[in-house]
Amino acid sequence: MKKVLIIGSGIAGLSCAIECAGRGMEVTLISPFPSERSQSVLAAGGINACLDHCQEGDSKESHIEDTLKGGCNIAGKEAVSGLCRDASNIINRLEKLGTVFSTEPNGRISVRAFGGQSYKRTCYCGASTGKQIVTALVMEARRLEGLGLITRRLWMDFYSALIKDGVCYGAILYNEAHVSFEIARADYVVIATGGQNALFGKTTGSTLCDGYVTGKLFMQGVELKNLEFIQYHPTTIETAQKKMLISEAVRGEGGRLYYEESGKRVYFMEELYGERGNLMPRDVISRCMDSTGKDIFLDISFLGKEEIIKRLPEVYDLCLKYRGIDISKDSIPVSPSVHFFMGGIAVKNDHETNIANLYAIGECASIYHGANRLGGNSLLAAIYSAKVASAAIENSVLSRTDEDFTTDLNEARAVLRTLQGSKSPFPVWYIRDMLAENMREDLGIVREEGRIKKGIEDVSYYLSIADKIHYDNSVLAYFNYSLTGILTLAKATLMCALYREESRGAHFRSDYPETKEAMAAATIISYDNGNFRTYFDLEGKYER
Ligand code: FUM
Repeated sequence: MKKVLIIGSGIAGLSCAIECAGRGMEVTLISPFPSERSQSVLAAGGINACLDHCQEGDSKESHIEDTLKGGCNIAGKEAVSGLCRDASNIINRLEKLGTVFSTEPNGRISVRAFGGQSYKRTCYCGASTGKQIVTALVMEARRLEGLGLITRRLWMDFYSALIKDGVCYGAILYNEAHVSFEIARADYVVIATGGQNALFGKTTGSTLCDGYVTGKLFMQGVELKNLEFIQYHPTTIETAQKKMLISEAVRGEGGRLYYEESGKRVYFMEELYGERGNLMPRDVISRCMDSTGKDIFLDISFLGKEEIIKRLPEVYDLCLKYRGIDISKDSIPVSPSVHFFMGGIAVKNDHETNIANLYAIGECASIYHGANRLGGNSLLAAIYSAKVASAAIENSVLSRTDEDFTTDLNEARAVLRTLQGSKSPFPVWYIRDMLAENMREDLGIVREEGRIKKGIEDVSYYLSIADKIHYDNSVLAYFNYSLTGILTLAKATLMCALYREESRGAHFRSDYPETKEAMAAATIISYDNGNFRTYFDLEGKYER
């Protein structure tokens, strides 16, 4: 029986566990917190699929075309084709597992308009689609757990992968409950740890997603890709803890963006792009909002309270609860914030990384979204990538030697002991906060060489003191030992942004505003003993 270790239990990790168990594998699913606390629960607006009853004129080809166009021609073509062609099967399967989609009076799943799409094809569950899907998947995972096919382990953090000669043999985990490291051997490891929101501080995402696993794997020889493409969602509102997402669903239901000038409303997106202006891809809208230099508002009040509560109940509640705004009467003050990472771990079409038997799926893997993701494609990609990876694992022929990883385990223990013994005046949260401030400033909606170089200098300094932090006993050990990994990822992200001397999708350089044909390729970055190497994947190394 093949042994699979899955790191991360959001929608991608849960889906992969269910798929692998269904294919007769022995599955262990680890995460520090339950699936109900994962980033996936925050996904609001929907999941794209061209269903049989989709809007007239729509087709799977059109979904493929919109996705590739939205990604500014650098997403994996074959991978995108598979993604969009399988979307309706995925919706059917989710429904069978108990996901409660919003439906029409005739019982068919409702679809709404979303940004950058030629037709209405976003299936949804009010504005809590992620939560409904997680609920259905958790139920199924529990059933399989009851049958002894899946083992779920909470309070477990990833420390590093067990890698020898380009082959993965499992992982070193930190058991936060037992405060100790352990070796978890596996035939295959699947990484499903989401994005790197916490690098930027307050975002729409979970602060538990900080990119550590991606950063640590990078330091262990795993290649990363397209890190410079960071999606700013145009409509978020500020609360004390985070930037709350005002789902694109509001604009899908007719919501209009505007600013005020001389007492009059200027519907700037409609002036620039006509009727579909409010549903342009996110990179376009965020840049337009930024360039106005004005306070921007989103109006949906014209729908009336009854319709708003019917179609957007969660958005209505959220605005009232966190900001005291009744959106059936008043407009919502919105601004763009970091929302999604198109870049991450470089994977081939079957989701294997450059290390044998090590796979990555969901947001932490980079393949489907190119330079800009379309809303509604991330939940789809999380589930589809899990299917692809589990099929590839089932079909792969396992060949490995017997390796001993005791030295790696002892090294991990030594690193933690050194951190715990440090007398440094730098608290770990101070560095994390400084980093977030840097990243927001140096990798904003508009970037330029000087700022990015300054960012690299600052992050290099934080890296030089990361092993001398003031250990914080009041938080999980993870938050202390993860610092070097997340700083390394931050530096790699800045290096990719510096390397791409053009503007494409979510990466806009004021010093290189044009898009260059010669750079229509993914950025790959690798690490060797503290040295970073960046290049464009012009030969499509990962497109196979
Ligand atoms: O606006 C939203 O509801 C976000 C959806 C997504 O990022 O896919």
